[in-house]
Amino acid sequence: ATILVLHGPNLNLLGTREPEVYGSETLDDINARLSNTCLDAGHHLMHLQSNAEYELIDRIHDARREGINFIIINPAALTHTSVALRDALLAVDIPFIEVHLSNVHRRESFRHHSYFSDIAVGTITGLGSQSYDLALQAALQHAEN
Ligand code: DQA
Repeated sequence: ATILVLHGPNLNLLGTREPEVYGSETLDDINARLSNTCLDAGHHLMHLQSNAEYELIDRIHDARREGINFIIINPAALTHTSVALRDALLAVDIPFIEVHLSNVHRRESFRHHSYFSDIAVGTITGLGSQSYDLALQAALQHAEN
């Protein structure tokens, strides 16, 4: 199977961005680990980080044409704002897991609402970069069934 990992705005700054909230690993560290896990399981992983909403939307549109089986997405701040990104995921009808590094529920109230949680297969929040690893484990299981 092919799994696509999408990272939203500002996640390119991981490692230096509020490390007390988001940890000290960089996005490259996380992507490399996910790619290795996926390869070891005999599957293929693609990833994209973008600060532009339209690039994430276009990538999701392309995912359907490419036959991507599963999406793991950290929409970052777009979690709380983007009907357009939600609609893109609904349009392509590819199952996805929503992940967050921080526990959005113990932060500001504007982070408590997500435009994605009610249409996701599941959500994982607050476990740092392990949120991605656990999502990948679930995605691989999902893809194999
Ligand atoms: C985040 C949480 C969001 O509220 C925030 O805007 C982010 C990162 C997380 O992974 O914890 O940029 O999605």
